[in-house]
Amino acid sequence: MQLPPFKLERYFSQYEFSTKYLLCSSDCESISVSDLLSLEPGAEQGLKRLWLGYTESAGALTLRQEISRIYTSMAPEQILVHSGAEEAIFLFMQAMLQPGDHLIVHWPCYQSLFEIARSLGCEVTFWEARPQNGWAPDLDELRRLVRPSTRAIIINTPHNPTGYLMPQAGFRALNQFVQERGILLFSDEVYRGLEYDPAGGLSAACDLNSNAVSLGVMSKSYGLAGLRIGWIATHNTTVLTRMAALKDYTTICSSAPSEYLSELALRHRQQLVERNLYIIRGNLSLLDAFFAKNGDRFEWVRPKAGSIAFPRLVGEDVELFCHKLVSTAGVLLLPGTMYDHPGNHFRLGFARKNMPEALAQLEEYLGKQAG
Ligand SMILES: Cc1ncc(COP(=O)(O)O)c(C=O)c1O
Repeated sequence: MQLPPFKLERYFSQYEFSTKYLLCSSDCESISVSDLLSLEPGAEQGLKRLWLGYTESAGALTLRQEISRIYTSMAPEQILVHSGAEEAIFLFMQAMLQPGDHLIVHWPCYQSLFEIARSLGCEVTFWEARPQNGWAPDLDELRRLVRPSTRAIIINTPHNPTGYLMPQAGFRALNQFVQERGILLFSDEVYRGLEYDPAGGLSAACDLNSNAVSLGVMSKSYGLAGLRIGWIATHNTTVLTRMAALKDYTTICSSAPSEYLSELALRHRQQLVERNLYIIRGNLSLLDAFFAKNGDRFEWVRPKAGSIAFPRLVGEDVELFCHKLVSTAGVLLLPGTMYDHPGNHFRLGFARKNMPEALAQLEEYLGKQAG
């Protein structure tokens, strides 16, 4: 298996821990261990007593019980815990795909969602989301892309990098279609819960469709990326068994302190999500004003959910712009070329508390450029 470099990760690695203003982070503002422990009396003592042996390979039962509460039809046995969403993506593809399989991937997307399949010898077709449609991919187009050899469809909603959220009716129709055709659906739902309009929240794919695998993680909606805990939820026992068998060759089991802290966080998940949505809503109103004022420099499709968006830069090469911005003003934006997207877009992240300051730095930079 030959994997090319993960462009986005390599780009971030140059700046993430040395740049003052990360204006393109995909996760929400995190919290300290101390703040997390303060959510519940006795949590700190519990952590101190925690035994540091191996944990259960599928994930601690109590953690899986807590995760199963996120869904409407999932039992703990239908959850498989991983070290981050990334491990789950890797193992799903290794477990379920063969060379020559056809795969349809909602695109632009997080690179591993297609790259691992490609490296396994699968044929990948992109189901493209376009800005002129508000980043909505077209369901009829998806139907036309399906072939007899189509093994799986990979989707991501709420979407990285556009912040697009599929409508409930379209999401249900998609689930029904793949179920009728016997195609696996891998549904990346790492931003689920961060819908700006709570009425727009979708059912999880695994609750709608026995052929669907829902992907969740502590990193995005809950802002706890350092825990490195992710999971899949599915009724499909073949997927669960095969992925569990492969996990014996990767991480075997997750870190005990991370499992403990994730379980604690999930007991208070509503509170964590509300706090992150509060940061997002405040920052989005600043971004609306910024894009209204700078309409000659940017095209802005307002996101519907999540912590990122994918605006378009007008009149200047986006890679060059991002490079000059970070080196002169210390503000990091992620050029869309890291997604192999040719449209001169960039990723903007707005779930960090210092976003107003970062945006002010960007404005100042634009002012200097104009002057
Ligand atoms: C859409 C999407 N899926 C999966 C992942 C992987 O999540 P993690 O880094 O927590 O494993 C990311 C991370 O950026 C992502 O944006």
